[in-house]
Amino acid sequence: MSGLEIAAAAILGSQLLEAKYLIKDDVALATKVVTNALPYLWKASRGKASYWYYFEDSCKKHKDLKALSFPRPIANAPPLEIDGDGFKIYDNQFQVEEYTYKELYDMVLRLSYILKNEYGVTSSQTIGVDCMNKPLFLVLWLALWNIGALPAFLNFNTQGKPLVHCLNIANVSQVFIDPDCSGPIKDTEDKIHEELPNVKLHYLDEFNLFDRIQSKSTPKYRAKDETRRPEDTDSSACALIYTSGTTGLPKAGIMSWRKAFMASVFFGYIMKVEKGSNVLTAMPLYHSTAAMLGVCPTLLVGGCVSVSQKFSATSFWTQARLVGATHIQYVGEVCRYLLNSPPHPDHDKHNVKIAYGNGLRRDIWTEFKERFHIDGVGEFYAATESPIATTNLQYGEFGKGACRKYGSLINLLLNTQQKLVKMDPEDENEMWKNPVTGFYEEAAYNQPGELLMRIMNPQDVSKSFQGYYGNKKATEGKIIFDVFKKGDAWYRSGDLLKMDEDQLLYFVDRLGDTFRWKSENVSATEVENELMGSHAILQSVVVGVKVPNHEGRACFAVIEAKPDLEHDDILKKIRSHVKTSLPSYAQPCFIKIGTIEASHNHKVPKNQFKKQKLPKGDSGDELIYWLNGDKYVELTDDDWNLICAGKAKL
Ligand SMILES: *[C@@H]1O[C@H](CO)[C@@H](O)[C@H](O)[C@H]1NC(C)=O
Ligand SMILES: *[C@@H]1O[C@H](CO)[C@@H](O)[C@H](O)[C@H]1NC(C)=O
Repeated sequence: MSGLEIAAAAILGSQLLEAKYLIKDDVALATKVVTNALPYLWKASRGKASYWYYFEDSCKKHKDLKALSFPRPIANAPPLEIDGDGFKIYDNQFQVEEYTYKELYDMVLRLSYILKNEYGVTSSQTIGVDCMNKPLFLVLWLALWNIGALPAFLNFNTQGKPLVHCLNIANVSQVFIDPDCSGPIKDTEDKIHEELPNVKLHYLDEFNLFDRIQSKSTPKYRAKDETRRPEDTDSSACALIYTSGTTGLPKAGIMSWRKAFMASVFFGYIMKVEKGSNVLTAMPLYHSTAAMLGVCPTLLVGGCVSVSQKFSATSFWTQARLVGATHIQYVGEVCRYLLNSPPHPDHDKHNVKIAYGNGLRRDIWTEFKERFHIDGVGEFYAATESPIATTNLQYGEFGKGACRKYGSLINLLLNTQQKLVKMDPEDENEMWKNPVTGFYEEAAYNQPGELLMRIMNPQDVSKSFQGYYGNKKATEGKIIFDVFKKGDAWYRSGDLLKMDEDQLLYFVDRLGDTFRWKSENVSATEVENELMGSHAILQSVVVGVKVPNHEGRACFAVIEAKPDLEHDDILKKIRSHVKTSLPSYAQPCFIKIGTIEASHNHKVPKNQFKKQKLPKGDSGDELIYWLNGDKYVELTDDDWNLICAGKAKL
């Protein structure tokens, strides 16, 4: 890591109070960077790149502090109680489990013993973790880090071909499975055995296992430092996290030790995660947001990680109160779901001071803070694979809606590392290259442009961009050379952002062929391919469309039907095919049966479809269907109104 790179890490910095030129905070952050990054790099160069050593230090320093808290949903819970004002009380639905640092450390060491001796886990293996949010996930993960094995966090909803693919690309040798989410992998078991005969699947008995790792009679195993992959550098993989990526099947994104460390130190510092903080996450731990920005910073400083097994809009604040959360993590959708839920006394009985995450939109920013009595919102922008992130810890008025807000010092530095590129006025998906100079140009203030991030070593891109595991092509597609001058290299974010005169950065939209829905990436191409697989259509165009009061874009398919089929038949065929071949977030919410005309250059101009007016187009006579439960039915004005009001579920 070069001096420049260390400086660039300051990009994670933030302006802590409401003002535009807070040089003092910038300097404090820069100091933090230098005083922490250098010792880390020194350690990393001596075989200790692993986060494990930081975790272990924390366990020694904070022995009796709470490290982990889990409001476990009670099986066969008693009926809800109703309070004097008629509100449902959710307290009796949860039993809070808590572990101190000492307890957590001991459990991790005992599980390590079991993994090593009973399952033969070694530091050369990649191990699948297929688990819901619960202590089991964290103990497994940390035990793997102790042993030096590489954890691959599987999305427990994935099944079939994509699941086999995930195991295959990561060279997973064993998978540890939480019984509460074992359905999809069980359904895929035969296929896994057939195609990947060496992969071992272990269905764990959670309660029995926890009895054992809490019992003094189980020996502890703390691997010797020499066996914990001492050859790892700061850019080596610490975990594989799957992203739904841009096209096709999931990709395994490489989390590096450096990222885990940077996220822990700087991100945590900016979001005021401190000793005694309690960070509640209901985001899945198999995504980087919860794992890298929730768990890692918190365990580093002696805070408590609270995990909610599954997000629930109605009981979320009750869970926050029960665990004593000071921080919560969000994604945009979650904020909307929370705002759409009815009033509840726990909305102001919790102790949450800061909510951080990404995708809180400007239109609900203030309402969210006020309704739930939250002082600070920590919005950030980052991509799992991207080398760098930006943040905005926002109090008061200034900076609402932005995903980057710093003092002028850091902005100055930052603007050399992150640039918005002018887009082609003819095609909003393409960057515009000046035909005279042959180079791209920066977007003007308030003009949307694709965000690029500078790659420090254009000759050795892999140093700052680890990309996707075992997928060189996808990795290279993310990098672009000779952008503003010959020899430079940039990471393409695939996202449109804009910057205002105050140097605040705002997220605008996702570019190209993917769109976000329910916090997942949907690949239009993949959906189009699967639609063809239904054997009911001639061709299709898939785009994401905006639906009022919903985050992201819903999947909208325009299809050209085979002439001899009835609409009903076609829709049934499509439904039964995509139901098993696509994850639920990627299944078309809306289908229009019509004709698709390619333009003169054989490209189907997708933008026209993105602006589709629902429920009916301008002409008013086209038929649009929507997925109501398990069936495509005609979209009426009434349905549409219910959908927009959040009363009918997409
Ligand atoms: C796959 O994992 C095994 C250990 O389970 C390891 O020995 C082997 O070298 C790995 N293969 C590749 C291509 O990384
Ligand atoms: C969606 O794509 C972005 C950019 O490639 C990535 O950072 C993010 O992790 C993906 N999200 C999911 C849920 O896979």
